[in-house]
Amino acid sequence: MAAKVSPSILSADFTDFADALKMLDEAGADMIHCDVMDGMFVQNITFGQPTIRALRKRTQTTLDVHLMICDPIRYIDEFASAGADIITVHAEACTHLHRAIQMIKAHGIKAGVSINPATSPECLRYVMDDVDLILCMSVNPGFGGQKFIPATLAKLRTVREMIDASGRDIMLEVDGGVNLENAAEIRAAGADVLVAGNAVFTHADPAEAIRVIRGE
Ligand code: DX5
Ligand code: ZN
Repeated sequence: MAAKVSPSILSADFTDFADALKMLDEAGADMIHCDVMDGMFVQNITFGQPTIRALRKRTQTTLDVHLMICDPIRYIDEFASAGADIITVHAEACTHLHRAIQMIKAHGIKAGVSINPATSPECLRYVMDDVDLILCMSVNPGFGGQKFIPATLAKLRTVREMIDASGRDIMLEVDGGVNLENAAEIRAAGADVLVAGNAVFTHADPAEAIRVIRGE
């Protein structure tokens, strides 16, 4: 199956998300990646559930919500009611990861677990039966426009093996520093959803950027 591209609106003009959504829908984005940051789990602060609710009114495209917040269990119900289609929590931010996944799935939406570049995928082993998406960070989360950390490629291969061994349909997403040059080796390592912020938003032809990252 072809890879999907989930452009991150973190790289959009924050005064005009409606325009960004229109552009991404016309450019053929497979999903819209929404980076929620709380200033605690990561240094940066972005936006919260009211923004997800507003975005939901403007697009039918899958809203891929990446929560970079401490104790995300506190806000899962709110983000689900706001219209998220996928909610991804960080393993490092959850005291009760299994419960967080069940809370997401109780809303009938997809549950993702993300791990930082230095986190071992071993923490995913006992939730493989429950999770719908695994997000491997390829930069330290907090900001767009950072450089891809090459050690992530080996981890992607390991997680791909874990997914294949599970026999389940689990998306493997990679986030941070993805560009038109490194997308092919990221896909070859087993990723099937590629997040891209700057690479899509700074390109003169975002539709072309999405096609190249997807591998078309
Ligand atoms: C980083 C965010 C990423 C970011 C990716 O903390 O989670 O989604 O927006 O941006 P680029 O593609 O510019 O590295
Ligand atoms: Zn992200």
